[in-house]
Amino acid sequence: MRRLPAAVTLVTCRQDEKYHGLTATAVTSLSVEPPSLLTCVNREASAHRAILESRSFCVNVLPHDKVELARLFASRKPEDRARRFTSDKWIELATGAPVLDDAIVAFDCTLDQAIVYASHSILIGQVQDIRVGDAHKHLMYLEGEFADLALTGTLRR
Ligand SMILES: Cc1cc2nc3c(=O)[nH]c(=O)nc-3n(C[C@H](O)[C@H](O)[C@H](O)COP(=O)(O)O)c2cc1C
Repeated sequence: MRRLPAAVTLVTCRQDEKYHGLTATAVTSLSVEPPSLLTCVNREASAHRAILESRSFCVNVLPHDKVELARLFASRKPEDRARRFTSDKWIELATGAPVLDDAIVAFDCTLDQAIVYASHSILIGQVQDIRVGDAHKHLMYLEGEFADLALTGTLRR
């Protein structure tokens, strides 16, 4: 799977006035009508239950300069978990899930379906609101490393 490059996102939610989140690369668009996407979240992730109970989540696509934030949301250390929402600007859209102000794009979703598959849940979200940021250089993950993706070469049309 390391050879499958992926955009790095933060999947976040708010439950009982508390923010939760995780770093996720298992994210894909689904349908246009209704606008939807899915993400696969480990059922042991601390945010998993909060997403199921709040019935909402936001997918924040990270710019290249948010590697430390991606590491923070992937760390299982309690002290790192406590720092996740302390250093950046977060706003709220339709569902109340935290939206990273610096995200390249953020999709604010209501949870439509949760399908358990082995260790993970496939979470299908219907997009309620979208926020498009200014950044264009994506943070990627491949070969077990974080990397930048900037459109430098010719687009193959
Ligand atoms: C680059 C990267 C991608 C990840 N993608 C996913 C993912 O798609 N789904 C998932 O459940 N965990 C994924 N993880 C792991 C979680 O981010 C992490 O294990 C966990 O949720 C940490 O948070 P917690 O201790 O609060 O549960 C990824 C980790 C990294 C470093």
